[in-house]
Amino acid sequence: MTDNLMAFLNEKKLTIDTQLTKAIEKLHAPDELKEAMNYSISAGGKRLRPILLLSTIEALGEEESLGMGTAIALEMIHTYSLIHDDLPAMDNDDLRRGRPTNHKVFGEAAAILAGDALLTYAFECLVSNSEKLSDTLKLKLTRKLAHAAGPEGMVGGQQEDLSAEGRELSIDQLKHIHDLKTGRLLTFAIESGALIGGANDEQLKGLRRFSKHLGLAFQIRDDILDIEGNEEDIGKPVGSDEANNKSTYPKLLSLQGAKDTLHDHIDQALVVLESLDLKSSRLEQLTHYILDRKQ
Ligand code: IPE
Ligand code: IPE
Ligand code: MG
Ligand code: MG
Ligand code: MG
Repeated sequence: MTDNLMAFLNEKKLTIDTQLTKAIEKLHAPDELKEAMNYSISAGGKRLRPILLLSTIEALGEEESLGMGTAIALEMIHTYSLIHDDLPAMDNDDLRRGRPTNHKVFGEAAAILAGDALLTYAFECLVSNSEKLSDTLKLKLTRKLAHAAGPEGMVGGQQEDLSAEGRELSIDQLKHIHDLKTGRLLTFAIESGALIGGANDEQLKGLRRFSKHLGLAFQIRDDILDIEGNEEDIGKPVGSDEANNKSTYPKLLSLQGAKDTLHDHIDQALVVLESLDLKSSRLEQLTHYILDRKQ
């Protein structure tokens, strides 16, 4: 990673972290609940989804801060999905973002509620922290975020991922699961950025295609890191997929096959990006980052 990209990521992360912490601090809610919410939110994470969202707005020449309410909402929903994903009834993992998982510290009931709270509060944050957006746009973003996160999106993908444990899947079935469980929230990051940034129809279509490849690439890299990653870098256990008998790209295609497919998606994402008339190269840099991220 170049120094320039690292500095950019760190700076953006700091801004997003501050907004997230502020949003939780001001809640009038039971202390135990706030503590459990804050534990997972403040544990860090790359904040890639909000960063992609803000970078898409920037690439269209608009003011990034217009997307902050949506960016925070998206990260809250992502964090809730991780808390629930780690539960014993799901992937049963003990480490997340370099810390013991939420249920290990607060117990399962509190972890479930912290997830519920982040999911619902996200929508409140989107609507109340987007003063400069029109009501029509807020409504559209709300509907799209609910769709991306819900039964036809991330949650649907999580269900299919669980149902597929121990089963042999075709590559198309696996691609579909990856698209739902991970792709949809990443696609929302780009699409909402495009809508807030005022993309024209051609840019919107192109950015959607770009985001599809990016979402798949992101989860393939995650599957690869589950095998050859370093626990300290990824902040979660290595070998979780194998232990849960998950279908993954490396399992279906071999490690090399998964790496080749990852490269294909990154190449296709870059081709689409090049064809668009964008005002910044941030999205291109972030695409390269997703190809060889270690975290
Ligand atoms: C992990 O997402 C879960 C997947 C969808 C692969 P991230 O790798 O973005 O996790 P954080 O937010 O940085 O912890
Ligand atoms: C999870 O995929 C995607 C989510 C919707 C949370 P994984 O189960 O592979 O994510 P990690 O590896 O635990 O972060
Ligand atoms: Mg999982
Ligand atoms: Mg998991
Ligand atoms: Mg994983």
